Amino acid sequence: MSTPILVTGGTGNIGRHTVPLLRDAGRDVRILSRSARVAEAAIEHVVGDTVKGLGLAEALEGVETVLHLAGGAKGDDVAARNLVAAARSAGVRHLVLISVVGADRMPISYFRMKAAAEREFAASGIPWTILRVAQLHDFAVPMVKALSAMRVAPRGLRFETVGVDVVAARLAELTLGSPAGRVADLAGPEIREIADLVRAFDAARGRTRRLLPLRIPGAVGRAYRAGDNLADDSAVRAGTSWAEFLANREAVAADSRS
Ligand SMILES: NC(=O)c1ccc[n+]([C@@H]2O[C@H](COP(=O)([O-])OP(=O)(O)OC[C@H]3O[C@@H](n4cnc5c(N)ncnc54)[C@H](OP(=O)(O)O)[C@@H]3O)[C@@H](O)[C@H]2O)c1
Repeated sequence: MSTPILVTGGTGNIGRHTVPLLRDAGRDVRILSRSARVAEAAIEHVVGDTVKGLGLAEALEGVETVLHLAGGAKGDDVAARNLVAAARSAGVRHLVLISVVGADRMPISYFRMKAAAEREFAASGIPWTILRVAQLHDFAVPMVKALSAMRVAPRGLRFETVGVDVVAARLAELTLGSPAGRVADLAGPEIREIADLVRAFDAARGRTRRLLPLRIPGAVGRAYRAGDNLADDSAVRAGTSWAEFLANREAVAADSRS
């Protein structure tokens, strides 16, 4: 019997797509999250908190590989530090981390925390793999919806949103493979202006709205306009486009209405 793979945050959006792929590869999975869940076939759930450092030793018992997906708006650096310390004590052999494209460039706390988490993994002394991923299509929806409702679009902001399936597939591949260090960033197939994403969103809903251009001030605006949130030419660009994602989303919504 193989040792279980610990997936922190395995109940989240990316985790829900990745765990079945690890199961399909015949691996047992243990999921760590803050809320209790009922166990499923070969999927064990344990309660813990990576930021508070709770339940980590128990979660890591008998584990050789950890896929660290748990994350939120705050505390990703502290969570990584806690997890690395516990993984070292538990004799873990491979740490896999999801990070975000532009982690070391964007002057935004979320990105800084991700860069700090990367440093924790790289300095852990445990063989590691880090994948930086662009914003998911799903993640962009609330922002695009809000901009559409306000009829504004920040000028010069570009995104390269990516589908969750392709992210999950790459994470599963890396988790099942050997430690690879920092691998090529993963982004969606196209880079698009935010105004373009909003227009496509409106069009998918059968409407056209005039968008007022908006200027994001300060260092954050400058970083976005400089494209510091975007992957470079070495990135892998894959998966569904924004238009395909929206078409699928509308089809699912229409299905559930019928
Ligand atoms: N979504 C994106 O566009 C994107 C892009 C690049 C990178 N990422 C990174 O990818 C990771 C997963 O993203 P996602 O979209 O799947 O997020 P998500 O849907 O919000 O899921 C987060 C998961 O982490 C768990 N979690 C949160 N805080 C925790 C804590 N302190 N201790 C233990 N578990 C905790 C949550 O479960 P409970 O709430 O039950 O604890 C949940 O399972 C995050 O680290 C995120 O920063 C996301």
